[in-house]
Amino acid sequence: MRQLIAGNWKMYGLTEQAAGIAGPLRDGAAGLSCDLLVCPPFTQIASVARILAGSPVAVGGQDCHVATQGAHTGDISAAMLADAGASYVIVGHSERRQNHGETDALVRAKTEAAVAAGLTPIVCVGETEAERVAGRETEVVGGQLSGSLPAGFAGVVAYEPVWAIGTGRTPTEADVAAMHGFIRAALVRQLGAAGQGVSILYGGSVKPSNAAALLAVPEVGGALVGGASLNAEDFLGIARAAVAG
Ligand code: 13P
Repeated sequence: MRQLIAGNWKMYGLTEQAAGIAGPLRDGAAGLSCDLLVCPPFTQIASVARILAGSPVAVGGQDCHVATQGAHTGDISAAMLADAGASYVIVGHSERRQNHGETDALVRAKTEAAVAAGLTPIVCVGETEAERVAGRETEVVGGQLSGSLPAGFAGVVAYEPVWAIGTGRTPTEADVAAMHGFIRAALVRQLGAAGQGVSILYGGSVKPSNAAALLAVPEVGGALVGGASLNAEDFLGIARAAVAG
């Protein structure tokens, strides 16, 4: 399975900055041994999708509503993302779980909505620092997986320890291997043989200098990159570190 290097731009990217990242990605993406994805803010999805049309770089959203349409002021549906040119959507990012009170049940409903709209969901899980210090990381991540993934799930999972996001700190390779192995076993328990086919991305302070080591860890199927995805050269540097599969 090819590794997936996904960029989560979060709430960054006015028109000029978005084009300034997407253009070099389009020009630099040929011949990579991994799949590439960028998830701009809603307002830039259509314009970035136009820039990347015909290139191997896919476009995704960062969240979606559970409904297809309706009286939901300020929300965006998965169908709208697909209509704008997205083929993926991130759901259950820790910033949404924390800042918007998203529960596992809501994340599961969003995941189902994404699939119904033809999008590939990237479902995020990960423990806080306090939970890891208390030795509860697998209990927390296991609960998120069983609560957030619908039956028959065939998308992508991203393991993002909350304490590694935007901090410059990363777990050790041994810790990443242990957690990704735990997630793989949980996926197989939950989904049967199909659980073997789910890519498990690592996210949290991935940059060109640590990407090769993290991407070489067993059961790491790619990376979900925040800050470093806002610089095309850094993002491509991470992509070049992907393991050919
Ligand atoms: P950073 O790469 O900035 O740590 O962010 C990770 C992340 O949250 C990606 O979704």
